[in-house]
Amino acid sequence: MVEPTHEDAPVDAAAFWEDRYAERRRIWSGEPNAALVDAASRLQPGRALDLGCGEGGDAVWLAEQGWQVTGVDISATAAARCRALAAERGIADDRVTWLVCDLATWDPTDRYDLVTSCFLHSPVDFPRAAVLRRAAAAVAPGGHLLVVAHADPPPWSRRNHHGVEGVGGGHHHGPHDFPSPDDERAELGLDDGDWDIVVSEVRSRETTGPDGEQATLRDTVTLARRRTAR
Ligand SMILES: C[S@@+](CC[C@H](N)C(=O)[O-])C[C@H]1O[C@@H](n2cnc3c(N)ncnc32)[C@H](O)[C@@H]1O
Repeated sequence: MVEPTHEDAPVDAAAFWEDRYAERRRIWSGEPNAALVDAASRLQPGRALDLGCGEGGDAVWLAEQGWQVTGVDISATAAARCRALAAERGIADDRVTWLVCDLATWDPTDRYDLVTSCFLHSPVDFPRAAVLRRAAAAVAPGGHLLVVAHADPPPWSRRNHHGVEGVGGGHHHGPHDFPSPDDERAELGLDDGDWDIVVSEVRSRETTGPDGEQATLRDTVTLARRRTAR
């Protein structure tokens, strides 16, 4: 197990996430995130980009709703699971594109009607603000940006296999790892002249953790719409 700590040399992000996915046959539920369902159900399907798409629960659901989807993740194992989930759910190959790349350096050249990023947290050094700002730049005029983040660490992230604090190791969370709605808007730095903030709030939800434990989690949900030309 690769264990990032602030004291250690930087851990390679791809190696960290590959290692994380190798731990279990499946990590996430395969179901879409509630905030995505809530937001996208009100939108006309078009082109969608899912950043940090994990095992594809959101991206496959979007494809099922008629979106043309690109899912991006640093883990090749996660991308393979996305492909398998899409096939299992009968999604045609030409409805989804899976890209394996590091968002720390990836700069999307296309424009999308929806750019979504749910729980794009990483205990490995990750330039979250820069990634989210590039995500915002990839939204087409009239399109939406959805960012969903943990407002507090999930209870299961406070222990690792040694039973001590940290996500997957001795990582100590920084102040921006669990943003409030104000933090998130500041991180995104959206220009008031170009964007309308549609949602900026904390929502609670009941969920089941990786070991079957029940928990109430608080999510910071930010939905913004890029205005069409002024
Ligand atoms: C907490 S998971 C969330 C997965 C999914 N969005 C969901 O809601 O189930 C974070 C995801 O971000 C991906 N990720 C982390 N750092 C990344 C990076 N630098 N570039 C691309 N993907 C990254 C991880 O591989 C992982 O799949």
